[in-house]
Amino acid sequence: METISFYGIFPMKRVLSGIQPSGELHLGNYFGMMSRMIKYQNENDLFCFIVNYHALTTIQDKDRLMNNTINAAMDFMSLGLDPEKSTFWVQSDVPQVCESTWLLSNVVNLGLLDRSTSYKDKLSKGLTPNLGLYSYPVLMASDILLFGGEIVPVGQDQKQHLEITRDIATRFNNIYGEVFVIPEPEIEKSTKLIPGIDGQKMSKSYGNTIPLFGEEKNIRKKFMSIVTDSTDIQKPKDTDTALFHLFSLFLNKSEKEELANRFMTPGMRYGDIKKELFECFWSYFEPFREKRIYLENHKDFVFDNLKKGAEKASLVAEGYMNKARHAMGLNFGSTNV
Ligand code: TRP
Repeated sequence: METISFYGIFPMKRVLSGIQPSGELHLGNYFGMMSRMIKYQNENDLFCFIVNYHALTTIQDKDRLMNNTINAAMDFMSLGLDPEKSTFWVQSDVPQVCESTWLLSNVVNLGLLDRSTSYKDKLSKGLTPNLGLYSYPVLMASDILLFGGEIVPVGQDQKQHLEITRDIATRFNNIYGEVFVIPEPEIEKSTKLIPGIDGQKMSKSYGNTIPLFGEEKNIRKKFMSIVTDSTDIQKPKDTDTALFHLFSLFLNKSEKEELANRFMTPGMRYGDIKKELFECFWSYFEPFREKRIYLENHKDFVFDNLKKGAEKASLVAEGYMNKARHAMGLNFGSTNV
């Protein structure tokens, strides 16, 4: 898509992604996905939203859902998401995604949803599935198609959902004519490289995360409990380890080499490295923590921005919705014929 920007004709892409309001954010979320998204806002047309409709498939507690949603919005804004540069909103503030989910449902074969690995995973964990969980991928397709998302940065676990979205868009366009843009996934590979404190991939479901915001004492404890081996203090230490990889997130190339040298040098104590890593983390996130506190105390500012974002997003959604209604013969009695 060619967008006329302030600087002239510039091939700006619409980058779009939804974020689950799933509670406490961790270091893996930040370095895996969030920092990347936030960078996009400078060179691209970023659309980013908190998927509270999707969260309904697993959270049925009103207060918890509300809190998680507002916290996710504040987290993103304190980490640098700028509502002036991007379009940032809460999914349920643009309810057209529900309308389009119904329209799209009619071009989806059940086989496609039956094959969804994330659905199958949840079943195998003993969850009693509801229709919402089953049609989760259709709602996600709506999220993407209704805003003309061209590039969708997601984790590896969402790859299949993107394939389902492409399939739905292609089928729809084949039946009704060119209405939707076929999105391209952008799968983040380095997320795999962010280990948790036990050395496995950092993930909420493994209980091995380091939270971004929270009590200093608790976070320090997490850093101090990063798993290490029992190599003799006089021997060189392995650098292909959780501690080294986690520290590397904060270092440039030469600092990383310096750290590797220290690992090679006899006498290095893991405890000292962990303390330094904590200090490094703590000062890196200092400005974000301050912003977080500011936003906590200025929730109106957050709500105002989300509202503005929803208004911007609604305009785009209505454009696609009208095209779809028209293509399907649903523009009956409306002014949009
Ligand atoms: N399913 C995604 C996840 O769990 C969240 C999501 C919902 C999403 N709608 C989206 C991601 C649209 C990208 C685009 O992470």
